[in-house]
Amino acid sequence: MSEREVIAATSGPATRSSLAADLRALGVTPGDVLVVHTSMSALGWVVGGAQAVLLALLDAIGPDGTLTMPSHSADRSEPSRWSNPPVPEAWWPVIRDEVPAFDPALTPMSSMGGVAEVLLHHPGTMRSAHPTVSHMALGPAAAHLVEPHPFDRGMGDESPLGRLYELDAKVLLLGVGHANNTSLHLAEHRAEWPSKHWIRQGSAVLLDGRRCWVEYDELDGDTDDFEPLGEAFAATGLEQVGPVGHAGGRARLMPMRALVDFATMWFPTHRA
Ligand SMILES: CC(C)(COP(=O)(O)OP(=O)(O)OC[C@H]1O[C@@H](n2cnc3c(N)ncnc32)[C@H](O)[C@@H]1OP(=O)(O)O)[C@@H](O)C(=O)NCCC(=O)NCCS
Repeated sequence: MSEREVIAATSGPATRSSLAADLRALGVTPGDVLVVHTSMSALGWVVGGAQAVLLALLDAIGPDGTLTMPSHSADRSEPSRWSNPPVPEAWWPVIRDEVPAFDPALTPMSSMGGVAEVLLHHPGTMRSAHPTVSHMALGPAAAHLVEPHPFDRGMGDESPLGRLYELDAKVLLLGVGHANNTSLHLAEHRAEWPSKHWIRQGSAVLLDGRRCWVEYDELDGDTDDFEPLGEAFAATGLEQVGPVGHAGGRARLMPMRALVDFATMWFPTHRA
């Protein structure tokens, strides 16, 4: 959707303060630890764009809250596995030899959205060290959340997602659906189903200041059933849904522990 289309679909501009009020009405409270996924265009036109959305989130959780978002960089992965788009096989060794090592300060994110870009560039934000599925956090719990982040099983219990689960973070889907709900990958790591398997992934990283290519285990996850799983979770009544912005935008807020526990039970019976 272009900005012109967003304006046409908007009854009146949303602002930092109107968005913060929407978030509080939804159930975001001071001190919350949030895992946020956003689509700004789904909120209607916002005065000040992504910066205003980020500030509204920070206003809603206050100084004792911690704001986190995935900061994934899928293009820093093993090139033979790329499908969207694929690259010619002859390029694979060049990519492995030449791609810059993942650097939390420099490596761009892929498809995380404009609000995530603003969070990444906030001077207080900390980003974890995983080359493809890093997570970033701003607030009192940030240091605890982002370190360590082992390369193996990057969205498992030893990752920032595992520690967000321990803190019982709240998941906030701001204008996006469950297909973007990263926390469900933690449940995939915990659950078992017949075709569950791990793949060998590879990335360039900095170890002791030197660039090297490392290989690690990654769960071959699948987001295709995340939407029906999200609908089933909503039926438990544990998900709060409310309006956000002025273009029919919806926000969903849910406790991460209950969500992950539900999904961990759901996968074995629905991925037979
Ligand atoms: C990919 C994704 C970010 C695209 O959403 P989007 O709304 O198109 O993109 P952004 O949030 O970056 O917002 C930019 C868009 O907002 C609109 N926009 C521009 N100015 C605006 C304003 N002031 N107010 C509101 N919207 C505005 C424009 O349409 C702009 O798109 P354009 O840059 O192509 O013109 C979103 O669908 C998504 O997937 N978000 C979740 C990411 C995530 O957490 N993934 C985890 C996966 S495990």
